[in-house]
Amino acid sequence: MIALGSDHAGLPLKREIIALLERMGLEYKDYGTYTEDSCDYAVFAQRAAKAVASGECERGILCCGTGIGISIAANKVPGIRCAACSDCYSAKMTRKHNDANMLAMGARVVGGELGQMIAEIFLTTDFEGGRHQRRVDQIAAIERGETLG
Ligand code: RB5
Repeated sequence: MIALGSDHAGLPLKREIIALLERMGLEYKDYGTYTEDSCDYAVFAQRAAKAVASGECERGILCCGTGIGISIAANKVPGIRCAACSDCYSAKMTRKHNDANMLAMGARVVGGELGQMIAEIFLTTDFEGGRHQRRVDQIAAIERGETLG
């Protein structure tokens, strides 16, 4: 199950992502927003991020105007590693090296076709583990308030 969330600015790109997920045969749950009315991205970031953090959804994809505000908000939910990406290389590497569990994109930054390519790469690339697991564990330690090194 893929968690989706957006604000009004990200809604057109979220619709492109929904079309991609349907083509890929992947189930999704859309945590809003559902209309073009102006709204606050943090509300939808939190809803979708909680679904990922709880394990209800395996991954999440968020869209706002830039992809930045909604990613910052999602990353405040413990257990979330949300990467704001606007290129395919970053989407691939954030899965391989960071085990990112959420992707954020900006509808005012990437077009629908590029957004779909980025999302497909994010959804089909595995975490490499190894030395990268140690680094992901360090991120979790920061979240727990521990001091590294
Ligand atoms: C909304 O105008 C815009 O600020 C929002 O979608 C996002 O880009 C914030 O980071």
